Amino acid sequence: MELQSNFSLKNFNTFGIEAQAKQFIAVHSVSELKTILSQNKMEKKFILGGGSNMLLTQNIDALVIHIDLKGKKVIQEDDNFVWVESQAGENWHEFVLWTIDQNFGGLENMSLIPGNVGTTPVQNIGAYGAEIKDSFVSCEAINIENQENRIFIKDECRFGYRESIFKNDVKDQFIITSVIFKLTKNNHKINTSYGDITTELAKHNIINPSLKEVSTAVIAIRKSKLPNPKELGNSGSFFKNPIVSKKEFAPIHAKFPDMKFYDISETEVKVPAGWLIEQAGFKGKRFGDAGVHKNQALVLVNYGTATGQEILAVSKDIQQTILKTFGIRIEAEVNVI
Ligand code: EPU
Repeated sequence: MELQSNFSLKNFNTFGIEAQAKQFIAVHSVSELKTILSQNKMEKKFILGGGSNMLLTQNIDALVIHIDLKGKKVIQEDDNFVWVESQAGENWHEFVLWTIDQNFGGLENMSLIPGNVGTTPVQNIGAYGAEIKDSFVSCEAINIENQENRIFIKDECRFGYRESIFKNDVKDQFIITSVIFKLTKNNHKINTSYGDITTELAKHNIINPSLKEVSTAVIAIRKSKLPNPKELGNSGSFFKNPIVSKKEFAPIHAKFPDMKFYDISETEVKVPAGWLIEQAGFKGKRFGDAGVHKNQALVLVNYGTATGQEILAVSKDIQQTILKTFGIRIEAEVNVI
């Protein structure tokens, strides 16, 4: 464990933004984490996982603790299911591939999502018809204030669309150190109902796909639409898809009959923000080194040396234009720091 001062976070955020941490330390075990927390009680702290869901708009005037806890294993199984535990610092996609290699089902639709396992519950990551709440059992976390362990079982996490208790009631109070998932060993619930997956599998004449084939299809779709953060700085979807009440939506839909939407409850619809942003003319637009990706309008990108402030300015311009044009408010999904 080595404490460093004025540490560049450029390689620790997938936007590739240059910003400095006043102090930085990477922890490799829970006991190291507890020691650091107890020794620095008065310091302001900032917890950093994979850095894949944040936009740094300033230097971080705090002790940045990078959670680098590694390890994954089967902890329990019966005839049909297996319980796997992953430490928070494991790369999510490598973890997903590891489960697939062992023929454990449940996470395959979420292949290639950037970030680390420990942050997946925070925003209940999801893609192609699956969310981690579908396989999540519990997670273990450390209370930052008193270093006590706490287990959060699924019901306590109050998962919603890109939402959980960790973004709300207990925000900034806990550090997730490991997560347990319950996966299938047989009778996998293959879910290819999400339009693009079926089309991608059909291209290869696959009718009854294996977990690996679903994962490969998802990887191909994501690669065709979403930029690789190693090549082009980005943070996945920058915005959430807005949820609008049917009452509010009716007059909007009457004015814009082509607007896409999905029923999500008796009273609400979800509108794809990507569609709104594209219609508003932002797709593929570049403002200096900040821009909107050419294949997926929900993704903001850093072409090289954009600052967090510049990307934030583009995001605000988009939000205001969407509100003015469609009367719909879109919210950032990434954490703006
Ligand atoms: N659309 C456009 N233009 C665009 C992008 C999308 O018109 O530039 C339209 C599409 O035509 C489609 C609809 O929007 O009708 C939905 O698009 P897509 O299926 O690509 O999904 P999304 O709503 O844009 C969400 C997640 C992604 C996830 C995909 C696939 C959110 C905020 N984003 O995107 O998650 O990969 O579904 O399930 O819910 C992420 O969170 O970082 C992320 C990439």
